[in-house]
Amino acid sequence: MSEQAEAFLSVRDLRIHFDTDDGLVKSVDGVSFDVRAGKTLGIVGESGSGKSVTSLGVMGLHRTARAKISGEVWLDGEELIAADPDRVRTLRGRKMAMIFQDPLSAMHPYYTVGSQITEAYRTHHKVDKKTARTRAIEMLDRVGIPQPDRRVDDYPHQFSGGMRQRAMIAMALVNNPELLIADEPTTALDVTVQAQILDLIRDLQKEFGSAVVIITHDLGVVAELADDLLVMYAGRCVERGPAEKVFSSPQHPYTWGLLGSMPRIDRAQTERLIPVKGSPPSLINVPPGCAFNPRCPYADLPKGGITRSERPELRLVPGTDDGRPHHSACHLPPEERMRIWTEEIAPKL
Ligand SMILES: Nc1ncnc2c1ncn2[C@@H]1O[C@H](COP(=O)(O)OP(=O)(O)OP(=O)(O)O)[C@@H](O)[C@H]1O
Ligand code: SF4
Ligand SMILES: [Mg+2]
Repeated sequence: MSEQAEAFLSVRDLRIHFDTDDGLVKSVDGVSFDVRAGKTLGIVGESGSGKSVTSLGVMGLHRTARAKISGEVWLDGEELIAADPDRVRTLRGRKMAMIFQDPLSAMHPYYTVGSQITEAYRTHHKVDKKTARTRAIEMLDRVGIPQPDRRVDDYPHQFSGGMRQRAMIAMALVNNPELLIADEPTTALDVTVQAQILDLIRDLQKEFGSAVVIITHDLGVVAELADDLLVMYAGRCVERGPAEKVFSSPQHPYTWGLLGSMPRIDRAQTERLIPVKGSPPSLINVPPGCAFNPRCPYADLPKGGITRSERPELRLVPGTDDGRPHHSACHLPPEERMRIWTEEIAPKL
């Protein structure tokens, strides 16, 4: 059976472009990936690379006239991009749920936290209010809200930022979704709560075999949790593969940059991290050819006759046709990439 047929979520050539007064913003420009039940995909990339737009696209949350969406999103065998919005709404919350990067966007200011979680539960379960309230209190407890039986009646504004984020996580998890997309689920939280939340996601996955997508800047988070990794740059996927392969033998200069800027526990405090030089391109004027070109230290190396204006496609890394393929989109010959990684980059990390 093909990987796509086995996947619970299968995204194919997803493009999400926004028509704005300044021009067409190509936020997501041909992204494909699969997530199997019980597995976790980590999506990493700098700010503005299209991570949130991708996940909102999967959830069917870009229904504005200005968003031009194409491609396919298959959820458990059902295609969602062309599906009826009502059908996608039904699936959202029951079969798939999202932990939003901005908790305020997910919680309504006029209703208590408890009533919103209760409502989310009752929409998909035929239970009375009391049972749903008990479930809401249990979820608030599981995400680490102190005195959940009292705080359940608070309004979102009575919660601190970190508590609001936890309440939103409780709401996303209340129906044991089979697909959970967690967009920067731990950024606003302190280290102890971060660990609790990640444990909670892991528990959900273990108990219900959920497929999980975790979006993060923090490669440390995905190093522990992800089975597979997808590295995004300027709305495209530049590298994709099993997490252990991407960490041990990364195949794209941008991924090398991300790894170099990753804080490590064993790194001396005084040692400076090496940030990726320069800043990401405008998604209205994406550089032709490889979008990473203006920032890439290897852009001028010979590429066997390939010109700069040619866009690198994702290609299989040689030797990874073992059922766990590793792909990268870089014109450097594979042996040259391996040499640079082993001789120049890895020793410095
Ligand atoms: N509704 C919209 N209209 C126009 N442009 C948009 C819209 N939503 C997002 N964008 C643009 O799409 C690009 C990708 O945004 P996105 O929020 O996906 O980035 P991100 O990778 O999630 O970044 P961060 O790590 O900061 O959350 C950005 O340039 C953003 O300005
Ligand atoms: S294709 Fe060229 S510019 Fe792009 S990452 Fe590879 S070496 Fe750098
Ligand atoms: Mg984002």
